[in-house]
Amino acid sequence: PIVKEIFGLANLEEKIRKAFGLRKVVVIPGDWETSPLTKRELGLAGAKALLGAMRGGDVVAVTGGTTMAEIAEQLNPPSNAAFKQNWFVPARGGLGESLEIQANTIASGMAKRVGAGYRLLHVPDLLGKEAYQSLVNDPNIQDIVSTIRQARIVIHGIGDAMEMARRRKLDSSMIEELQKEGAVAESFGYYFDEEGVVVHKMLTLGLRLEDIRKTDTVIGIAGGKSKAKAIYAVLQFGHEDILVTDEAAAMDIVSEL
Ligand code: G3H
Repeated sequence: PIVKEIFGLANLEEKIRKAFGLRKVVVIPGDWETSPLTKRELGLAGAKALLGAMRGGDVVAVTGGTTMAEIAEQLNPPSNAAFKQNWFVPARGGLGESLEIQANTIASGMAKRVGAGYRLLHVPDLLGKEAYQSLVNDPNIQDIVSTIRQARIVIHGIGDAMEMARRRKLDSSMIEELQKEGAVAESFGYYFDEEGVVVHKMLTLGLRLEDIRKTDTVIGIAGGKSKAKAIYAVLQFGHEDILVTDEAAAMDIVSEL
């Protein structure tokens, strides 16, 4: 805490917490984008926030991404028998990420570190309407999707909309459409505009917006100056409880308040 005061980070945390009515905000020093040390520290802070929120018997839904992968890496819980009754699940189906940073990979990786169980959702990337319809009706898929929708904790990364659209190889007409709709942020396969309004949904299974709205604890994790706008938009969406970010993003967010 003394170190935080010196950097003025506690002040940033409190300003953001109050402005968006959050339960808790954690700001770590530096810029995630340019500093490998900050990347690790953000992962560690994310891991701590998750462990602090977990109780026995929880279903924890996780998204993919490099930030979430770093959290999985840094998750070193003290032995806790209660956590062994927990389940880790991906928040949503395939979104076009590479294997290492897919939500399924993160969910199983986290579960192993915690000694908890995991269930995976095997849905192909970027579904067409017909494939979606037949999967929705599959009893095995329905079973895992209903577990996902019972999650008490959702922990997720946040990305810049255009950056994510490119990374997930959306076609150019889709990218143009997102631009027209004013998409600035992406999270869980949902694209948000500056006001935090969902302007586009990727067709896949798992958590719906109404599930996110009623989740007990939603933890958002993202850092870097270039993500400030995206983080701000997701905060405007208004369903975050805990935010873990870095100084570079936090300074930008506070300057917009
Ligand atoms: O939805 C957002 C992305 O998962 C964020 O990915 O952590 O690799 O920037 P990232």
